[in-house]
Amino acid sequence: MTDTDTELRVSKIRSGTVVDHVTGGEALHVLSLLGIDGSEGTTVSLGMNVPSERLGRKDVVKVEGRELSDSEAEVLSLIAPEATINIIRDYDVVEKRRVEPPEEVTGVLVCPNRDCITNAGEPVETAFAVLEDGLRCEYCGEIVREDITDHLRD
Ligand code: CTP
Ligand code: ZN
Repeated sequence: MTDTDTELRVSKIRSGTVVDHVTGGEALHVLSLLGIDGSEGTTVSLGMNVPSERLGRKDVVKVEGRELSDSEAEVLSLIAPEATINIIRDYDVVEKRRVEPPEEVTGVLVCPNRDCITNAGEPVETAFAVLEDGLRCEYCGEIVREDITDHLRD
């Protein structure tokens, strides 16, 4: 229990997922990556830039009634490499795991190259290879190095 301050700020949840140790300031991007914009009615609590011994400051995202899949956790690693996924059932943490970068990300991002086949209105899902310092479109080779969340599909 290193980040005790969080406990005082955001209450515990009964069931769902707590994404903890999110890079400070990235909580809203985590929600976008999970496709949560509020309209679906999911109960979400956020802590942003709360003090953390390990990270200095961190964000915490608590999503009720939903257990994140491995592939959802993988995508989160792109913007929050230090994140911990905690699955909560009946108030207990029943599973805790670190996010792991995937080898490839499909469908989540849009290619910044306008001439890419994935932007031509064809029924082609985007696919990016995950490199050490960025992402590479599998179709046109375009590289995305920074601001991955600028390229999120709506
Ligand atoms: N949590 C929650 N609701 C619960 C249980 C836990 O919101 N019913 C949250 C805690 O507030 C914490 C995270 O889930 O942010 C992980 O809980 P726990 O493992 O108990 O905390 P720590 O030991 O501090 O976790 P770590 O070692 O990963 O920092
Ligand atoms: Zn492309």
